[in-house]
Amino acid sequence: MNRTYKIQRKLMVQIAELERIGMQRDTSLNWERIHSVSCSRSGYFLALERGVDAELAAIACSVHDYGRIITGKQLGHAEAGYEPLRRFLMESGHLGREEVESIAQAARNHSRKGETGTPIEEIVKDADVLECYWYGIAIEKDEYKRRLDRLQGRFRQIA
Ligand SMILES: [Fe+2]
Repeated sequence: MNRTYKIQRKLMVQIAELERIGMQRDTSLNWERIHSVSCSRSGYFLALERGVDAELAAIACSVHDYGRIITGKQLGHAEAGYEPLRRFLMESGHLGREEVESIAQAARNHSRKGETGTPIEEIVKDADVLECYWYGIAIEKDEYKRRLDRLQGRFRQIA
């Protein structure tokens, strides 16, 4: 089993644990499951297209909302996830320190859709916006719209 699946499985086990405990949440755990797996797939293909490490991108996308998953809160979830995600990834034993840092940083910065970050960070942000679009979630913020326009422009060029 590759590292993406191993880490996703660890995340799914944790989500199941949170489900057993039960808590007030801004988003359902079922949405977190779908969003994690689906973003991971989108990130993988965006990375292939951009010549970025696709495995790292897929892992980063699958855990980018870790902060919201463990706290249940949308507000400030990207920053809140940074430290706990570093621990989660280190404990997985599947990633080196630099890989952990790169993924945790991408998760911490993923809500800043108007800013340009590392290639992995950009893939997380783009995959996030694409998923919202594909699942019919309203895209209201200007920086999200700009990102989606840019992505769709690229898709038109490729097609
Ligand atoms: Fe998020």
